[in-house]
Amino acid sequence: TRVLSVASECVPLIKTGGLADVVGALPGALAVHGVDMRVLLPGYRQVIDKLAAPTVAAEYGDLFGGPARVLKAPLGDAKSKQVLYVLEAPHLFDRDGGPYMDPKGNDWRDNPERFAALSSVAAMIGADGIEDWHPQILHCHDWQAGFAPLYLRELGAAGRVSTLMTIHNIAFQGMASASRIGTLGLPRTGFHQRGYEFWDSVSALKAGLVYSDKLSTVSPTYASELMTKEFGMGLDGVLRERQEDMVGILNGIDEALWTPPYKTIAEKAKHKAALRKELDLPDDWPGPLCVVISRLTEQKGLDILMQALPALLDRGGQLALLGSGNPGLEEAFQRKAQKHPGVAVRIGYDEDLAQRLMAGGDAILVPSRFEPCGLTQLYGLRYGTLPLVALTGGLADTVINASPAGLAAGCATGLQFHPVSAQALAQAMMRLITLYQDKETWTRMMTNAMASPVSWTHSAAKYAALYQDMVKAKQP
Ligand code: ADP
Ligand code: GLC
Repeated sequence: TRVLSVASECVPLIKTGGLADVVGALPGALAVHGVDMRVLLPGYRQVIDKLAAPTVAAEYGDLFGGPARVLKAPLGDAKSKQVLYVLEAPHLFDRDGGPYMDPKGNDWRDNPERFAALSSVAAMIGADGIEDWHPQILHCHDWQAGFAPLYLRELGAAGRVSTLMTIHNIAFQGMASASRIGTLGLPRTGFHQRGYEFWDSVSALKAGLVYSDKLSTVSPTYASELMTKEFGMGLDGVLRERQEDMVGILNGIDEALWTPPYKTIAEKAKHKAALRKELDLPDDWPGPLCVVISRLTEQKGLDILMQALPALLDRGGQLALLGSGNPGLEEAFQRKAQKHPGVAVRIGYDEDLAQRLMAGGDAILVPSRFEPCGLTQLYGLRYGTLPLVALTGGLADTVINASPAGLAAGCATGLQFHPVSAQALAQAMMRLITLYQDKETWTRMMTNAMASPVSWTHSAAKYAALYQDMVKAKQP
């Protein structure tokens, strides 16, 4: 099966969150199943700079106001067998700043056009192929690829090429003013409630949800949560209508990138000691060292953690947090670290420190209000760093709670709390401390956690089967 994966981020080239990890890992995980998946990525300056010996695979005279080309390069190092296509369009992507925001942190004003351009090139590759490669499926990730299925229809190729829209995060919907319908090259006939119109505006995500053949998201629980008012962010009705076409397939982790630097539980103590030293945390506190690696946004519930923190600290527990995002939260955590010897905070993005936190921590906290899948709890499982998570989305699907039943059955791998409130989190942290003091149970949980299936093996097979069904459905 030939699949073009269309996304705005991809490890190891550009990453702001878990989307990049997933897009970067899928081609390798799927190759085993005979899927030839190639990634199409915007040519941000940071991406173009990293390409190993790119060649020109296609040229477009004018794409949303400037010339554009598609470059072809290996995904990863020069030896990689996976193919990456990069949309080089300097007028859209050759800038300082991040993929979505300028250096001051404001969204690029032409974001709708930038990602419409990505989607439009994806559709052209779907319709005409690129060099001698003809994808059978466009796999579109999040709103940035949302218009691709609609453009594909406009090119008259939707009868031959199938489309899958994957929701990684429904909070971002790719909204644009209706006055841009013309510049975005959208068919006016689709501007209505059952098309890409959303509250009188244009929504790229809604377009993807309405016009693609199949829908997926990154965990079964989130797939059903999305269809409720509480989680659907206004699109729950659209999703309920497409219930039969929607599946939840859990993310895995790239086990080559995320391997603990130890084989046995006993060795972990050494990493904890080193981490405490690095972060200036006292090494004689009796409680668990809890870590957080996260974007600091409303979604992640870290304001709730701030409120519930005394329940951990007053009982001899410690917190080490690495993250960046909301300035108010950044400051609040930094202030907490100055005042409290049991709290260490690093603001920024640091992959090496993330690895050391995972290796040295006793527990990883993920108190998200919603979480489509979540990856850090999966790293935690693999590293024997027990996840304490909110009972929502992928966090509900990947952790086995140390409930009386889970403990009695001897299969618990972490803790879950519900509802997402400071009260419930505080209680969960007290449970965590009690469990931590019970060395036998804690060790058992660590062993269970480290044996949890967090690789791509299972989910890659599911994607491969879904692609096969999709291809079959298009055969005359
Ligand atoms: P989301 O995509 O919503 O941010 P995920 O848990 O799916 O959440 O993925 C987050 C990814 O980003 C993980 O790989 C995590 O390790 C990484 N990450 C988040 N914040 C940081 C940070 N400050 N430094 C290093 N890595 C980070
Ligand atoms: C999103 C979600 C996260 C998920 C990631 C990759 O960023 O917030 O839960 O793990 O996408 O699918």
